[in-house]
Amino acid sequence: MAEAARKAFVTGHPIAHSRSPKIHGYWLAKYGIDGSYQAIDVAPADFATFLKSLGENGYRGGNVTIPHKEAAFALVDRRDEAAETTGAVNMLWLEEGALWGGNSDWLGFAGNLDEHAPGWAGNGPAVVLGAGGASRAVIHALKQRGVKDIRIVNRTLARAEELSHRFGACVSAHGVEAAAELLADAGLLINTTSLGMHGDASLAADPAGLPDHAIVTDIVYVPLETPLLAAARARGLKTVDGLGMLLHQAVPGFERWFGMRPQVTPELRRLIVADIEGETAKR
Ligand code: ATR
Repeated sequence: MAEAARKAFVTGHPIAHSRSPKIHGYWLAKYGIDGSYQAIDVAPADFATFLKSLGENGYRGGNVTIPHKEAAFALVDRRDEAAETTGAVNMLWLEEGALWGGNSDWLGFAGNLDEHAPGWAGNGPAVVLGAGGASRAVIHALKQRGVKDIRIVNRTLARAEELSHRFGACVSAHGVEAAAELLADAGLLINTTSLGMHGDASLAADPAGLPDHAIVTDIVYVPLETPLLAAARARGLKTVDGLGMLLHQAVPGFERWFGMRPQVTPELRRLIVADIEGETAKR
């Protein structure tokens, strides 16, 4: 008997904006895999029931996005190390009857910098703007890659301190007033806040005071060049936009559900850039 088509999904609420179906759809077609990947809108009240019925609905697993990442963390049977460390689950898979939750956002972050700024982890102290869920994935990636001095800058100092306690001695917490001093000898600046999204012109920190060798990256990718990246480029610094993080975080899930490790290609990037440009033009 032929094997049934493999099925995976992305769930969130709302979910219509998600670009994940385009990414996985591109890979399914490129590799000629008999499978599907669909967006499913699940309200928070229905999320636990949705998870319980994955197997009987024929799914191998899927991605989880806002607002379900913390609920997924609480509801799965087993978690990978990155999920434990970040407190959030962005991918699910069924294995020997157990529902597993993993976190691939940190791999997306590291994979994007590996592709566009090789050697980034040895570039010096890192300043991380923001202390939310995305910040945790970034800090986990920095630690995994051996960055020894990680400085969190956040509007609400208490949230930065909470992360500093969670991640240990190499991670320090600061208010925004300390940013200029912290940037003066930093090798990496990462924005994990929503500032700069959708044409908001605010800067969470001014890259003008960074050293010449610094690399600046933003996890916001709409617009592709955020005000922070534009200011860094004007200053002559190396910049990496956030789209690659979205593309690279999708790799481990696809490999689990569909059985082969896909490539993040220039063609895939162009496909998603066109989608973003279409969205930006509509605003
Ligand atoms: P996510 O899970 O996407 O990281 P989050 O948990 O809501 O989202 O975190 C958003 C981050 O952006 C926080 O660091 C937040 O700062 P506070 O902890 O002080 O709320 C930051 N942020 C959002 N809007 C901001 C603003 N207008 N100015 C400065 N920081 C902002």
